[in-house]
Amino acid sequence: MLKNDLLLKALRGEELQRPPVWMMRQAGRYLPEFIALRDQYDFFTRCQTPELATEITLQPLRRFPLDAAILFSDILVVPQAMGMNFEMKPGVGPWLENTIKTSADVKNVIVPDVEETLGYVFEAIKLTKKELDGKVPLIGFAGSPWTILCYAVEGKGSKTFDIAKGFCFENPVAAHELLQKITDTTIKYLLKKVESGCDVIQIFDSWGGLLSPNDYDEFSWPYIEQIVNVLAEKVPVTVFAKGCWFALEKMSQSKASALGVDWTVTPQIARYLTKNSITLQGNFDPARLLSPPETIQKIVKEMIDEFGTTKYIANLGHGILPNVPVEHAQAFVEAVVNYKKI
Ligand code: CP3
Repeated sequence: MLKNDLLLKALRGEELQRPPVWMMRQAGRYLPEFIALRDQYDFFTRCQTPELATEITLQPLRRFPLDAAILFSDILVVPQAMGMNFEMKPGVGPWLENTIKTSADVKNVIVPDVEETLGYVFEAIKLTKKELDGKVPLIGFAGSPWTILCYAVEGKGSKTFDIAKGFCFENPVAAHELLQKITDTTIKYLLKKVESGCDVIQIFDSWGGLLSPNDYDEFSWPYIEQIVNVLAEKVPVTVFAKGCWFALEKMSQSKASALGVDWTVTPQIARYLTKNSITLQGNFDPARLLSPPETIQKIVKEMIDEFGTTKYIANLGHGILPNVPVEHAQAFVEAVVNYKKI
């Protein structure tokens, strides 16, 4: 039983006086206590050690009155389990030496036994649930198959992911085979996450917006939909497809409970495209957290006025930036918690 189930109520579309609030990447480099642990253990050690993952998950909740916890982990643990040896290089970010280049490379990718390869994530969930003691719901997540393919083929972050796009356009058969393997692994992984205690699932399609609407329909959405169709039978699912306002109408007709939106779309347009039929999450520009706290409070109030307090989850439009002062993140969360219509 949850003591604070505001997030679940918003996902069910229940009428609320104020929306729930959490921040994408709320456990992150803007927190001094996160930096202290980062200096002691490398990134994937933090992901793989349940005690550390739990501690980092709880850090932002000790500071701010958040309505949800999101498990500290990374979307890249899934391709790691599939045999791709991702590292997190300081100053570079995600790094894969042996990228996927050919159909033969795709054939070598495995759909693993998730309990064997990702057991540490399920242990971290159980420990986090115990520590949370029903305080707030726990969000589990995975990357979309397209976003994972971007890293698997490109081998690192990119503004355009043109190597990944080139691979799909030159070799669509191999691309679809890889996307299906990622999808099959992700479904098994997320089902086990739910079984381990996650109350809500979010799919991050961080690079969906790099595709044209037609290519999104071919290379991203069908795979996200497969995942949503299975997972939505168990828990509410949120799809955050960054830059994909063009797909909002179609996504709103799926079994997802909520859709994430970024700051390039207005609340009015997002509501219009989704016919007010689904909960929306977002869409504060993360860079706007660099404004003075009074300005943050003012823009948050306007954002809630425009989205409304029902069928809405207050959040950023993408992950929090490392250079955001902690007091500014606090001003954001408190502005939502203290929201009054007038
Ligand atoms: O939201 C949360 O608080 C939960 C934790 C979380 C992390 N990564 C921790 C993390 C989540 C949900 C993710 C998802 C993730 N990881 C995405 C999708 C969301 C998004 O922001 O688009 C992506 C694309 C990744 C891959 C990845 N991992 C990138 C691009 C980076 C940043 C690299 C850099 O140096 O800028 C990471 C590293 C990472 N994952 C950090 C955190 C807190 C920071 C690195 C560190 O601790 O040293």
